[in-house]
Amino acid sequence: MSTEEIIEVPVSIPGSVCRILTGPALLASTGALCAAAGLRGACAIITDENVGRLHGSAVQASLKEAGHAVQVLAVPPGEQSKRLGTVEDLCDRMISGGFDRKSFVVALGGGVVGDIAGFVAAIYYRGIPFVQIPTTIVAQVDSATGGKTGVNAKAGKNLIGAFHQPRLVLADTNTLSTLPDREYREGFAEVIKHAVIRDAAMLDALDPAAPRSSLAPLIARNIAIKAAIVEEDELEETGVRALLNFGHTVGHAIENVAGYGRYLHGEAISLGLASALEISRRKHGLSADASRRVLDKLAAYDLPLLLPDDLTTDDLLAAAKRDKKFLNGKIHFVVSPRLGEAFVAKDITEGDLRTAIESLR
Ligand SMILES: NC(=O)c1ccc[n+]([C@@H]2O[C@H](COP(=O)([O-])OP(=O)(O)OC[C@H]3O[C@@H](n4cnc5c(N)ncnc54)[C@H](O)[C@@H]3O)[C@@H](O)[C@H]2O)c1
Ligand SMILES: [Zn+2]
Repeated sequence: MSTEEIIEVPVSIPGSVCRILTGPALLASTGALCAAAGLRGACAIITDENVGRLHGSAVQASLKEAGHAVQVLAVPPGEQSKRLGTVEDLCDRMISGGFDRKSFVVALGGGVVGDIAGFVAAIYYRGIPFVQIPTTIVAQVDSATGGKTGVNAKAGKNLIGAFHQPRLVLADTNTLSTLPDREYREGFAEVIKHAVIRDAAMLDALDPAAPRSSLAPLIARNIAIKAAIVEEDELEETGVRALLNFGHTVGHAIENVAGYGRYLHGEAISLGLASALEISRRKHGLSADASRRVLDKLAAYDLPLLLPDDLTTDDLLAAAKRDKKFLNGKIHFVVSPRLGEAFVAKDITEGDLRTAIESLR
């Protein structure tokens, strides 16, 4: 590891000690960095079968070299693993593997693995430390930071979980080289979302042709945005953390109506961002030029901006209404009056939502 390429993102979440590093070739230093973070004992690497095959041995070797007993526990890849059954199974495997309260978990993979493994760490022996090694853009810029862990319930996504902050986050940009192109591009929907709500100048730093190994400064910039928001509102109490939901009302409705699997999350969020920009423009003064600038960036990453005919406006509205409470005909909806700023508007009506969805045709 050439240390000058490693960027440390300062974070201070009250009551937790978390160190966040990004750069190339961090995996080989996992063991040393875990030791520096005060982690001793046996280590359970929780990963999925794809990521485990590609990057598991590097992480395992580094931890073994640092003197840890290590076991790799892999789950099938994909959102369908994000359920309580997987968590119970992993806990059972850890108990029979001899892990005790001095052990720690390393989550190696995308957001699915991070959410599952973080939750296992939150409840195993009533909580043991864990390390995030995110390997997708989504996980590196978003899900690995902030301490939200959990799984899906039959009734909806992410309904079961816990806040549990990782001790260490290692976002190794070299791992991105094996990420399939579509999964790579979809991650930039969340990056573009961060730019809209907090950092308009970042739009100019986004280049779809940039080599993946050069992304550490951009990853760091996004982690800093996410961390700042989490520092202000860790437990989602003041509404600041809710700003991260920009674009997600319509995005989630699209995921629901299309059925999970047809759109990757970031692709649905691209359409959700387009609808939120439209509402921001119509109701809260966002300029047409600003909106166009963001849409052009989404298009540059080949993210969708137009809805197919079979996803009807009525179905999407019905899904949005199941997801969000309308009070006196109005919902709370994150808008951006100027790029780089966002707030929760309380004056958005069903009619506004309908118009915004129709604008995607
Ligand atoms: N906790 C949070 O704050 C938070 C925030 C955002 C999203 N999430 C959650 O994250 C999940 C989505 O995460 P995701 O988009 O990373 O998807 P994912 O974890 O399903 O990964 C996508 C696919 O890429 C594969 N993969 C991952 N890294 C790879 C690599 N380096 N090389 C090759 N293949 C690789 C995986 O095996 C999987 O098939 C959702 O469940 C979402 O709810 C959580
Ligand atoms: Zn999202």
